[in-house]
Amino acid sequence: MKGNRIIGTGAGYPDQIMTNEDIAKIVDTTDEWITVRTGIKERRIAEEHESTSDFAATASLRACEMAGVDPEEIDLIILATLSPDMLIPATACIVQDKIGAKNAACFDLEAACSGFVYGLACANGMMPEAGIKHALVIGAETLSRVIDWSDRNTCVIFADGAGAALVKHEGGDRGIMSTYLRADGSAPPPWLMVSPGVAYRGPFSEGSGTDFAIRMEGKEVFKFGVKALPDAVIGAAERAGVSIEDIDMVIPHQANIRIIDAGAKALGIDRDKFFVNLDKFGNTSAGTIPLAMDQANREDRLKEGDLLALSGFGAGLTWAGSIIRW
Ligand code: COA
Repeated sequence: MKGNRIIGTGAGYPDQIMTNEDIAKIVDTTDEWITVRTGIKERRIAEEHESTSDFAATASLRACEMAGVDPEEIDLIILATLSPDMLIPATACIVQDKIGAKNAACFDLEAACSGFVYGLACANGMMPEAGIKHALVIGAETLSRVIDWSDRNTCVIFADGAGAALVKHEGGDRGIMSTYLRADGSAPPPWLMVSPGVAYRGPFSEGSGTDFAIRMEGKEVFKFGVKALPDAVIGAAERAGVSIEDIDMVIPHQANIRIIDAGAKALGIDRDKFFVNLDKFGNTSAGTIPLAMDQANREDRLKEGDLLALSGFGAGLTWAGSIIRW
């Protein structure tokens, strides 16, 4: 226990809502199919002028405002994303400029849907040893730009949005108790997801549009998620020295309601303890956990001293858990 505590949270996402009915006008699907198979009813989709750094900056400023911290006091910005504004510079640097965090070190991190928890682990490891007192950890995506909008297997699932957590080193017995990071790079593409335009043809090749789109073997990902979600919680709980029964809330990666149901069952944790908002936001990859955390926080669902478990899982394969004493 290093006494690194989340003192502010924020969310940022497009105003534009795309419902299942809207998607059914683009591909051969129905509201019923999407609702039953995924739990998603609607999602936020960026307009042309919007990008990952915009949602990340909004989420960050809201987290700073809640914490009462001036952006100039931030020492570190870690931005987890698989859909950065561009490859160079890091989107974290673009966010730094947008929010005026001129004293922060900045980098991006790519661990797909586990990215936010990976980022939290990095920040926790660096605080306070690397001279970091305030760290901003962001998960942000504009997945609508890397979706093949003719592929009904993926376009019904992925969406845009961001969440941010402001972490402060304050000592004491609240805050991040443990992190547990795992990866398995042996899964053959497109077993989970690749962007073939980038992975196989070289960057910036003649490919564009669907060449750069996410591909997914839905059934295999589903089976992986059902195992990874509980493993991340159990791994983090063991490291924190807490028992599963003591967990007050789980914020899982918001991939699919059926994965969450199965994960709850495998853990033996009451399903009501799982915070879910994928019906409104879909799967925003690195964005889902901090987006949900901000909503839970603002709805006052997290009380001082509560034990919160985070569980992320996704491409890589990667999966990651954390236990936080709120
Ligand atoms: N609308 C209507 N029908 C669809 C559809 C859609 N959007 N997508 C697929 N189908 C069809 C399939 O073509 C198939 O038809 P067939 O039986 O005639 O061949 C049928 O529905 C069943 O497809 P299947 O792939 O077996 O469905 P599923 O129950 O596995 O659900 C997913 C598909 C993608 C929703 C599900 O596999 C899933 O959620 N996987 C995990 C995805 C995930 O969480 N990814 C992110 C991880 S970070």
